[in-house]
Amino acid sequence: MSHGPRSGLAAVSSALLAMSRHLETRDVLKTIVASARELLDAQYAALGVPDDHGGFAQFVVDGVSDAQWKAIGPLPRQHGILAAMLHEARPERLADVRKDPRFEGWPHAHPDLVDFLGLPIRDGDEIIGALFLANKNCPKPEGSCGFTQEDEELLALLAQHAAIALTNARLYERSRELTIAEERSRLAHELHDAVSQKLFSLRLTAQAAAALVDRDPARAKGELHQVAALAAEAAEELRAAVVELRPAALDEDGLIATLRTQIQVLDRAHTARVTFTGAGYRALPAAQEEAVLRVAQEALHNALRHAHAERVDVSVERRGTGAVLRVSDDGDGFDPASVGRAGRHLGLVSMRDRASGVGGTLTVEAAPGKGTTIEMEVPGG
Ligand SMILES: Nc1ncnc2c1ncn2[C@@H]1O[C@H](COP(=O)(O)OP(=O)(O)OP(=O)(O)O)[C@@H](O)[C@H]1O
Ligand SMILES: [Mg+2]
Repeated sequence: MSHGPRSGLAAVSSALLAMSRHLETRDVLKTIVASARELLDAQYAALGVPDDHGGFAQFVVDGVSDAQWKAIGPLPRQHGILAAMLHEARPERLADVRKDPRFEGWPHAHPDLVDFLGLPIRDGDEIIGALFLANKNCPKPEGSCGFTQEDEELLALLAQHAAIALTNARLYERSRELTIAEERSRLAHELHDAVSQKLFSLRLTAQAAAALVDRDPARAKGELHQVAALAAEAAEELRAAVVELRPAALDEDGLIATLRTQIQVLDRAHTARVTFTGAGYRALPAAQEEAVLRVAQEALHNALRHAHAERVDVSVERRGTGAVLRVSDDGDGFDPASVGRAGRHLGLVSMRDRASGVGGTLTVEAAPGKGTTIEMEVPGG
């Protein structure tokens, strides 16, 4: 292939555009090698991204068939001329790579390379890859004509853009990993806050039904209806957590009615007396209402599960433009300082995150033998 100055520029430009069109690292690498091979009219092109252990994290070739690639075997190590390009960081242009003192022979099934042009790909001071070409196609059938100084300059330009495309692809992949990690932790909190409590109540209600079934079938039947209702709610919460919806009840009934209903259910399901008061409350921004509901649920759940309380009192009242939630039990209490952040205990961590996530504050007032009070204040809007 030979280019006049115009078509040469057009070819370079379309190669650069192709590189920036992809976001996945592997696609970017493939486009780079294919473009390099085409632009410089070579038989083979390859691009290696080094790992930290003397091998290549990725190695992409163009001009080699899949069958041939398989037959060659494992990825090369960073040795010989490949290593020199990565470590000495300068271009290598050789008329016959096999005559170079660093040449160590080809693996079985490797094509025979003669003329060779290699360039490091740099991001600042860091070498993030090596791009190389071999066997320039020659108009004359006999022998090879080799890569020129001009080819080297063209490849250098390509390598600079390859560096940008590679760095972007890495940033993109990194940010996607972060998003996935955040999403996982959100889901874990959501499942913990909403679903595990419903299942806990469900278990207790089912036990109550089992205990009543001989003695008082009518009441057992009532408990079983409750089991069905709790199971339906758990399923709904699970669905909401997975698709990141607000609990439907919040939109339909508002915070106060939602809390009141849930607390009535808990009062019936547990031996402790559970009460609710909502005084002078005014609707809050949606995110704050959701946070208040979740914190109330977790605080209630902790009180009913850990405290051996006789009473749990929940209140929501207006303060300034915002509101204060208080969940207070007369149970065993505990030492908040002794609850590690790490490990299995998600509840307290999750409550703090929820509060700070909407610009609010959370205080835990607890001491062994003195009960526990959780207070959350949100600013309103
Ligand atoms: N109201 C309470 N009364 C007595 N102890 C409590 C109360 N709330 C929390 N605790 C103690 O603090 C610990 C941590 O609570 P946290 O909600 O963070 O985790 P958890 O309830 O053990 O587990 P998870 O909430 O992740 O299911 C509890 O294990 C319990 O010992
Ligand atoms: Mg808990």
